Amino acid sequence: MRTRVSAVTEPSVLNDTKTAYDSVATLYAELFGDVLKIKPMERALLAVFAELVQAHGAGPVADIGCGPGHVTAHMHALGSVTFGIDLSSEMISLARHAHPGLRFDEGSMTALDIADGVLGGILALYSVIHTPPAQVPAVFTEFERVLAPGGHLLLGFFAGDDALPQEFDHKVTLAYRWSPDSLANLLRQAGFVEVARLLREPQEGERFQQAHLLVRKHQEP
Ligand SMILES: C[S@@+](CC[C@H](N)C(=O)[O-])C[C@H]1O[C@@H](n2cnc3c(N)ncnc32)[C@H](O)[C@@H]1O
Repeated sequence: MRTRVSAVTEPSVLNDTKTAYDSVATLYAELFGDVLKIKPMERALLAVFAELVQAHGAGPVADIGCGPGHVTAHMHALGSVTFGIDLSSEMISLARHAHPGLRFDEGSMTALDIADGVLGGILALYSVIHTPPAQVPAVFTEFERVLAPGGHLLLGFFAGDDALPQEFDHKVTLAYRWSPDSLANLLRQAGFVEVARLLREPQEGERFQQAHLLVRKHQEP
């Protein structure tokens, strides 16, 4: 097991992200806690993800950057053993309050307190968007480390057209849009095989195209 990175040793960008989400956690939960109800394509993708993870039978799902835990709870309702992890203690506190039967831990995707190869799946929905681009390959390597061979990762993010990640004026804190091809390349370099991708147009109230990449960790020979 890895030693949990303490707040004192976190790079400043993690502290800034944590502070920013701590300060908006209640509002975020009010605005987005029910958002899956109006996102049929995301619900369909989560159902596919749950089915693939359960068919493989390789371990629980970690919802990394889970926010107030609404997707964690949705996965649980789909029959997947799922727990949430988030940098923001306020988000974790709201998630525990809203979903008392589920497990939520404070932690960072940059150094997960999870043993090698134990997860059947990882959800990272709009959470890697806050990672400085130079650190994203290391985060994908960390995801690959904790997934079992053949385990699935579903990554959600705001799509951009440029080959290079584009910083944008996210309402909470510094964030980046990525082209699906650029992130797919980084995932391939980290040891993942692409299974599917979804690119959809913005719905009412959204500014950008929304992208999801579904990938699988290489099976051992
Ligand atoms: C835009 S919210 C997305 C929440 C949820 N996944 C959803 O789809 O609504 C981003 C979340 O990622 C968390 N986050 C950002 N960087 C993180 C990191 N390095 N490790 C864990 N969580 C992180 C934030 O605290 C925040 O709760």
